[in-house]
Amino acid sequence: MAASTYDAKTSGATAGLARAIFAALRAAGKDPLRPTLDDLAPLDEFHVRGRQATLELAAIAGIGPATRVLDVGSGLGGPSRRLAATFGCRVTGIDLCEDYCAVAALLAQRTGLSDRVRYCCSDALALPFADRSFDIVWTQHAAMTIADKPRLYRELSRVLVPHGVLAIYDVVAGRVQPAHYPTPWARTGDESFLVAPPALRDLLTAAGFVVERFDDTTAAGCEAFARFVETIGQRGPPPLGLQIVLGPAFETMARNQARNLAEGRIALAQIVARRR
Ligand SMILES: C[S@@+](CC[C@H](N)C(=O)[O-])C[C@H]1O[C@@H](n2cnc3c(N)ncnc32)[C@H](O)[C@@H]1O
Repeated sequence: MAASTYDAKTSGATAGLARAIFAALRAAGKDPLRPTLDDLAPLDEFHVRGRQATLELAAIAGIGPATRVLDVGSGLGGPSRRLAATFGCRVTGIDLCEDYCAVAALLAQRTGLSDRVRYCCSDALALPFADRSFDIVWTQHAAMTIADKPRLYRELSRVLVPHGVLAIYDVVAGRVQPAHYPTPWARTGDESFLVAPPALRDLLTAAGFVVERFDDTTAAGCEAFARFVETIGQRGPPPLGLQIVLGPAFETMARNQARNLAEGRIALAQIVARRR
């Protein structure tokens, strides 16, 4: 995979990342030993419209207590813990970044969800699971840095049971190009691999999926991000925010994200596709 903005935390930085998160929780007046999912959400729901977007996708994905869910590109694990806590299901998260997986496991312990979520460091393009291992494959804001999309969707299809569901919430290419960089996922356009919605539909169909829902949620994301950028412009970022993982360029990335959404350079797609 191309180097990306996520690489900053891939060299044994687990302890530092965990310390930064616990210090930020303290600064926000929360208990770092027993944070709630909502305490962590501004940081660990690492996608546009955070918790709200996760719950909206979950509502159309059809998750129940017996569903085996794979979260691809699970990051710090906010969505996987939210699904496990809300639906009682078991979730396996995989992420390319070892430190994110380690911190996700630590946060699972502190939120009392270790028995229902587990994390493993692996590449979405070569999943360490047998064919037909999961009922739902879930992925949010992870495909933007993955160039080999045909292989990605074939791999997600492989680990799903027949008629299993692929639930996606992703940034896609807008009508106006190019996007402004840096963004939260890429420092320059060379690190970004966005596809336009029709191309994404074709990729999913070619990988053996029937697309059941393909909803454009850009308007809601645009409004929420504009408000967020206005707030950080006035008060600075909240103590527990994405600057902890994205570093000092966070505010520029956030402003570019708002501009990209407003100018139609990126869009947001919420998708449910079923494996044939
Ligand atoms: C923007 S974060 C989203 C994290 C999480 N899905 C969420 O919404 O909170 C994208 C994540 O995808 C992961 N990622 C990117 N490429 C990947 C790949 N090829 N395999 C596994 N994970 C990948 C990154 O390490 C990062 O943690």
